Amino acid sequence: MSEDDKERTVELHYEGGVLKLPVHTGTEGERTIELKALLGSTGMTTLDPGFGNTASCSSKITYIDGDAGILRYRGYPIEDLAAGATFLEVAHLVIYGELPDAGRLKEFADKLRANADIPADMGTLIDAMPRNGHPMALLASAVNTLAAYYDDSVDPGDEDQVELATIRLLAKLPTIAARIYRNSIGEKPISPDDSLDYVDNFIRMTFGDVHADSELGDLFNKAVGMLLVLHADHELNCSTATVRVVGSAKADIYASVASGINALSGPSHGGANQAVLEMLEQIRDSGISLEEFLERVKAREMRLMGFGHRVYKNFDPRSKEIKELAGQILDRDENPDELFALALKLEAAALADSYFTERKLYPNVDFYTGVIYRTMGFPTNMFTVLFALGRLPGWIAHYREQLHDPDFRIARPRQHYVGSPERRLPGRD
Ligand code: ACO
Repeated sequence: MSEDDKERTVELHYEGGVLKLPVHTGTEGERTIELKALLGSTGMTTLDPGFGNTASCSSKITYIDGDAGILRYRGYPIEDLAAGATFLEVAHLVIYGELPDAGRLKEFADKLRANADIPADMGTLIDAMPRNGHPMALLASAVNTLAAYYDDSVDPGDEDQVELATIRLLAKLPTIAARIYRNSIGEKPISPDDSLDYVDNFIRMTFGDVHADSELGDLFNKAVGMLLVLHADHELNCSTATVRVVGSAKADIYASVASGINALSGPSHGGANQAVLEMLEQIRDSGISLEEFLERVKAREMRLMGFGHRVYKNFDPRSKEIKELAGQILDRDENPDELFALALKLEAAALADSYFTERKLYPNVDFYTGVIYRTMGFPTNMFTVLFALGRLPGWIAHYREQLHDPDFRIARPRQHYVGSPERRLPGRD
């Protein structure tokens, strides 16, 4: 706590007296009340379902101002990074705290290239998984097994091992994801090509040369790179909080990231980009008007997927970048996707409706992402896998930051028990 902070306290008046609680001020002036002394002093806990008011740690990685629509990684605005940095530069920034200079970037990229292959028997293992299984289930399972293949990098107490695991995760996730996709369409895997950059290599391992040497292909590369940048971190979202919770038990980084992938698979989180596309298809196929559809949403029969966010109550800065990119791609596409036009109309209809504006529900990062991925040829169930590729640096950065946090403790929330009081088995008093 700084000297300044020490002067700041709030008082909690409770039956047993008054407790002074310190108030900490963050970089951007946001304030947080420290509750470490609460239970010990008052015997009381706090009840905060969904952790909507709870900062579980201090972090230097990402800043979000949901009301102003601001997102920054390590201080850099997301708009600047999306326009002027590659995914590898951003991954380096998020994980190590600084953008790499040319020499460091080359060293980083070379290490990733050198580690992009997966062991042959791990490939066999992935090939033996159900081909029609959801790719997120397969991805999480494959990442979990990395701990078994690379048990020389599972000790969270050894910085070199954590660094080795960092490189392996970043290097191998695209290889694993592409293999899962190719299995799902009954095609042979394509090995990593170390002459290509990270994003190009992933696209080639996924689609072969389908998108090579074309204007649209270049735009796809730009789109995937930018989407990965836009997804690279988002502070304590559900999957990142999961990575931290699992890591807090000193589980290895592979197990922690696999848990993050599982959390991300939920439709209220990363699974939303798949759910948006399914919603748009459902609207198109059922012939229902947008007005009718929105009435059903307002009657709470369903949610408008890709709308709303726990933190952004103005707009999601990532959604603006993605919408623009989707427009560029679809302008150059000879057969533009009809679902993009539908998404534009749906967004306009929702934003003209006070139900959504009063609740501060605006398009989030997932609303247009799926339209881009669909145009590239990704099936809807791969969308969340692409989200996972983008979010990986964030998960790794949070896992690593936590290891050096002086307040590091196993995560163990309390509960507010409202179940039965003590009772006895019948006839055994
Ligand atoms: N469609 C319709 N109504 C909604 C939506 C939505 N998408 N989201 C919230 N609401 C309404 C709720 O019904 C509620 O209304 P009420 O106050 O009249 O009861 C109000 O808005 C507040 O909703 P909460 O559920 O309390 O908001 P919360 O912050 O818990 O939820 C969430 C955020 C999960 C993202 C939610 O907005 C949602 O389900 N959105 C759709 C799924 C989605 O797009 N998820 C992706 C999020 S971004 C990401 O993970 C990368």
